[in-house]
Amino acid sequence: MDLTAILNGITDDMAARPDRGAVARYIPQLANVDPDQFAMSICLADGTQLSAGDAQVPFSIQSVSKVFSLALALGRVGDNLWTRVGREPSGQAFDSILLLEQEKGRPRNPFINAGAIVTTDTYLEGHSPAEALGGLMRFIREAADDDSIHIDEDVARSEIATGHRNFALAHYMQSHGNLRHAPELTLGTYFHQCAVAMNTDQLARAGRFLMNAPDMPRMVSDGRVRRINALMLTCGQYDGSGDFAYRVGLPGKSGVGGGILVIAPGKASIAVWSPGLNDYGNSHLGTIAVEVLARKTGWSIF
Ligand code: DON
Repeated sequence: MDLTAILNGITDDMAARPDRGAVARYIPQLANVDPDQFAMSICLADGTQLSAGDAQVPFSIQSVSKVFSLALALGRVGDNLWTRVGREPSGQAFDSILLLEQEKGRPRNPFINAGAIVTTDTYLEGHSPAEALGGLMRFIREAADDDSIHIDEDVARSEIATGHRNFALAHYMQSHGNLRHAPELTLGTYFHQCAVAMNTDQLARAGRFLMNAPDMPRMVSDGRVRRINALMLTCGQYDGSGDFAYRVGLPGKSGVGGGILVIAPGKASIAVWSPGLNDYGNSHLGTIAVEVLARKTGWSIF
C-alpha cells in the first residue's frame, strides 16, 4: 500500500472540492480562518509520520481537547467519573441543554459540552485552574513529544466572552449538585482547554497513546485506551456519531475549529483539519477525507 500516494491524492481531491462547509462564526478567531485550508497527518505504529497539505498551520483544537481531558480525569478519579457523567450518545447538538433537565443534571457523555464541563471540574479538584491546566498541557506535550504546544489566550478570552450557553449548562448542573467549583472557575479552565492550538502533525502525534501499538507512548492503561476509543466511536461526533461510524468505521473526536483526531487501533493515529463544518459542527471535508482514507487503507475496525 502506497500511503504517501493515498494521502497526497486525498489532499489534492479535497483542495479541488467546491463544497467546504461553513466555518464557526461565534468568535472572530474561528470566523476569520481561511476555509480553503486542508491538512492531514498520519502516525503509524512503527513510528513513521506522514503529512500533506497545511500540516504546519496551527488551529484551535476546541473539542478535540475533550479526549485529553477525559484521559486526565480518568487518571485522577478512575471509574468514579461515571457517577457524574454517562457513557451514552446524546443524539442532540454538542451544546444542548435538553436532556440535562430530564436526567437531573447528569450529562449523557464526556464529549458533549455539559459532560466535558463535568470532566474538567473533575481534573480541577484540589488544584487552581492554572495548576490544572498545567497538568493538562504536560499530558498533551508529553503525548505529542512537543513542548511548544500552547494555549491561544485570545481564543480563550473570546470563548469566555461569548460562552453564555456553557455558563447556562454549568449553572444548571451546579443546581443539581454536579459541579464542585464555581462555574467561572470550571469554565475558565474548560475554555482554556478548548483554546489549545496545534497543527495536524502535532495532533496526530498526541493521539498515539490511543493506538495501543507496540513502542507507542503508554500514558494510560490498555483497558482505558479501549474504553476511550469506544466513547470516541459512539459519542465523538455528537449527533453525527452514527453517521461517522457508518461512513468511516473508526473512533474519532471532532472540534468546532475543524480538526478531527481519528484512531485506527494498532495501526495509526490520524489528524485531519479543514475549518468548514457540516450541519453537526464537525469538519465537512475532514470527515470526507477520513472516509476515503479508511476505504483505501482498509483500516475500518469493522
Ligand atoms: O464549548 C464550546 O462550545 C466550544 N469551545 C467547543 C465546541 C466544539 O468544539 C464542538 N465541536 N464540534
